[in-house]
Amino acid sequence: MPQTITDFYKDYLARINEIDMEEQRLLSSDDKRVWTEHLVRKSNLIRNSHSVVEKNLNEMIRPYVSGERETGDDEAAALRDGAMLYYDKALFDEVMESSVLKMLIERYARRGDAFSERMCRYAFANNAYISAEGPFSERSLAEARQVMSRLSDIRAIRAAQPFDALFLREVNSIVETGFSLFDRECKMLEPDTEQIVKRYNELAGIEKYKDILPADWYKDFTSYLHDCLGIHVVLMQALHWEGVPEKRRKSLSSLLEKELLRQTALAPAKRNPKLFMASVVYAFHAGTMKPDACFDLLYPYLKALKKKVNFASNNWYDYHGVSRFFAICLMTRPLLQMVTAGELTERRKKQKIAGILYEVKNYIETIPRECAGRENMDYCLYHLLYDVIEFVDDEAMAIECIDTLMMNRQLATLIHSIMAAKLTQAILDPLMDQKPELFYEMLGVGTPEEVHAKKEDLALFMYNAARVHDIGKIRIATIINTQIRSISPIEFELIKMHSQWSYDIVKRNKKLSQYGEIVLGHHKSYDGKSGYPADYDNHATKYRLLTDILTICDSMDAATDVYGRNYLKDKHFDKVFAEFEELKGTRYNPVIIDFIRDNEELYKQLQKITSKEAREDFYFHIYRKYR
Ligand SMILES: [Fe+2]
Ligand SMILES: [Fe+2]
Repeated sequence: MPQTITDFYKDYLARINEIDMEEQRLLSSDDKRVWTEHLVRKSNLIRNSHSVVEKNLNEMIRPYVSGERETGDDEAAALRDGAMLYYDKALFDEVMESSVLKMLIERYARRGDAFSERMCRYAFANNAYISAEGPFSERSLAEARQVMSRLSDIRAIRAAQPFDALFLREVNSIVETGFSLFDRECKMLEPDTEQIVKRYNELAGIEKYKDILPADWYKDFTSYLHDCLGIHVVLMQALHWEGVPEKRRKSLSSLLEKELLRQTALAPAKRNPKLFMASVVYAFHAGTMKPDACFDLLYPYLKALKKKVNFASNNWYDYHGVSRFFAICLMTRPLLQMVTAGELTERRKKQKIAGILYEVKNYIETIPRECAGRENMDYCLYHLLYDVIEFVDDEAMAIECIDTLMMNRQLATLIHSIMAAKLTQAILDPLMDQKPELFYEMLGVGTPEEVHAKKEDLALFMYNAARVHDIGKIRIATIINTQIRSISPIEFELIKMHSQWSYDIVKRNKKLSQYGEIVLGHHKSYDGKSGYPADYDNHATKYRLLTDILTICDSMDAATDVYGRNYLKDKHFDKVFAEFEELKGTRYNPVIIDFIRDNEELYKQLQKITSKEAREDFYFHIYRKYR
């Protein structure tokens, strides 16, 4: 049992590092026997750490959060550092982290330690992004706005605190909070542009205090502000220009027009890459430069992204002052739009689009696994896919894009998706032969022969639907990948959104959109009374039968998985199937469950696919293919 909170964190990090190293050994092993031993060891390490961390978390941290125990100064500092570990290692869920920060904010306020209080408020505001879906985000943003409102008190602070160092610390913390707020709002999927412009104006309002601020500080601050504006405006344009209100377009346009002139007048080496990228995207949207010319100017920045990255350095994700993921999100969609709008032949356009996707794919593949969870990687990668998938005509290529992301962020989900797809094939094949009447309505046919004629097409359709069903999980990969402690209620709420997020992605693509209903409904119960999304009516879809098959295969893989996320409750197929029988009619389609039970050959086949031995072979194969 660790003695102090700092010991607790140290112990926790050591455990995570040990598991990471085990993962590395696993990935580099070519001998299946050795590989399996690593896998079992890793599973045991996680199982063991899980109970220890959970116990320590309850004994060390929760009493402070609940107010049972008063913190000393050292403990308060340790708690604050720990709360900020969230981004790196996902030790706390955001509610836990925020509870700690909230407690500290009150503590510092009581003691009149304004600086520490602000720093905690700043961290609290930072929490907004992961929970962007819920009321929690509103609360954090409101906190941050409150800190921002202190900007107008600058003269008063100056009068009360005549020492420059102390005064600047105050101003800095207000400005930092402002930027953080600015950032979070800009990174929302549908950013509130009114709020962003308002926030920018508030920050720019510091000009009024120029006379009482040190000249150096003021100079740095304004250039920083300028930089931020460039990148955020381009975000609005690149991703959501359509959403910028008419009255705001004018002021944003004039800002970028000026920037375009200023940057293009400079020699290439002297340009500010971020602002230059912004102005090129603006020129494209404004129609002041031809799409092909814009492409030629912007494309080198995408290519440059993967060069000279020292992944061992602490700031490897920094790209001209923005996160690499953020930068890649900003550039990719405009580049694809430029190619589409350009004057090339259709064939050349296709080649260029494939080239962009190849660059993006390559870049994602270069990100080492241990960098996962850094910055807002999950969120950006999800948006990247959301933006890109629309431009991919070829279905196999669209699935390849999805695989690349899952491979990098969630190998376990990739394996699960392929497993579920395999299981659907095993069921679908005899079901179409022996009960063709089940398919008449869906296929618009009336005889067994007609069903037979469509067999291959339907099998592929089902296979692909299963392959993409869980892609929404990459938006919260850090939560899904949390293995060392249990998932908290708010995290579970976020996980429950993954079928909707998967749906949102597949709907953006012409070919994949046909799987929309199956993907959306895969966690809804057969009777429609439980599961999620709550408001989704799974009785109305014509793909009802296929959704039911996927629901069964989805649970079948998850429940029998010895090595994936379900390491605490892996079960043998027979036991799992007995539970399915109890839930037939409510959770699962009784016709399919009965069909499996009465069909000995099929039952044995499913048993075999989900067996420990078959999994080992399959997992080993996937690891070797994708590592
Ligand atoms: Fe799912
Ligand atoms: Fe699933």
